[in-house]
Amino acid sequence: MKSLCERSVIITGGATLIGQALAEAFVAANSKVTILDIDEAAGTALADKLGPAVRFIATDITHDDQLQAAVGQVEAEIGGVDILVNLACSYLDDGLASSRADWLTALDINLVSAAMATKTVHPALRRRGGGVIINFTSISAEVAQTGRWLYPASKAAMRQLTRSMALDLAEDGIRVNSVSPGWTWSRLIEEVSGGDRARTDQVARDFHILGRAGDPAEVAQVVLFLCSDLASFVTGADYAVDGGYSALGPEQLTPAIPRLAS
Ligand SMILES: NC(=O)c1ccc[n+]([C@@H]2O[C@H](COP(=O)([O-])OP(=O)(O)OC[C@H]3O[C@@H](n4cnc5c(N)ncnc54)[C@H](O)[C@@H]3O)[C@@H](O)[C@H]2O)c1
Repeated sequence: MKSLCERSVIITGGATLIGQALAEAFVAANSKVTILDIDEAAGTALADKLGPAVRFIATDITHDDQLQAAVGQVEAEIGGVDILVNLACSYLDDGLASSRADWLTALDINLVSAAMATKTVHPALRRRGGGVIINFTSISAEVAQTGRWLYPASKAAMRQLTRSMALDLAEDGIRVNSVSPGWTWSRLIEEVSGGDRARTDQVARDFHILGRAGDPAEVAQVVLFLCSDLASFVTGADYAVDGGYSALGPEQLTPAIPRLAS
């Protein structure tokens, strides 16, 4: 996409599969990508794999000084920042049994650090005359899921934060949107399913209209669209990239009315 050419993109938490797909998509659009992640081994390996357009800076986004240093380094070495993708997350969640410390950790990574990353890149985006911010939320933002309290709450808050950011940053030429993926082939799903994509799709079939889990590249393409000039009138919006998960009601895929007659 022409409007993404030579753009400087920062992706927090970009060291795993969804981050990789995002980085690949931005590079294919001739952008320069910097991944900020605590996972130094995975981040370095990914940058090595994807070539000179992708850099990695080991950063714990829960530390303001590390965020500041990383963004300063990107500005100094690349010349600016145009796009921030708040992708990093923690799946730490023990529902009712979660401790206060767990709550604060999960919210710190999933929500507060996205606000702090935004605050940190804001002057850099203004120096470029504007930019785009993408916040990652989830289907979990709107439904109850057994045993999960922290993650869904953090993702619901992220949707509201997106609206607040969009309103206050518009005057700086910054658009802010969120994406809410459904089940996506990712590190955790790969681990839990033992790398079994067919089984993952089989389980996902019941609650995704499209009958399968999504691919990271499918999420990445929506992010690219939202970052491009094609989405120049889109801000404060949440985009479902969930194969119809959120469109499906409790009746799911099976016609319910016939059950009255049976
Ligand atoms: N995987 C899915 O099916 C799915 C579905 C809906 C939404 N999402 C969202 O997509 C995004 C990516 O999810 P994923 O499954 O790829 O997650 P993941 O756990 O594979 O990756 C998250 C990354 O964040 C990094 N991270 C964690 N704490 C950090 C910190 N303090 N500082 C810097 N980096 C930190 C991790 O090291 C990791 O690389 C998340 O925001 C998640 O909520 C994922």
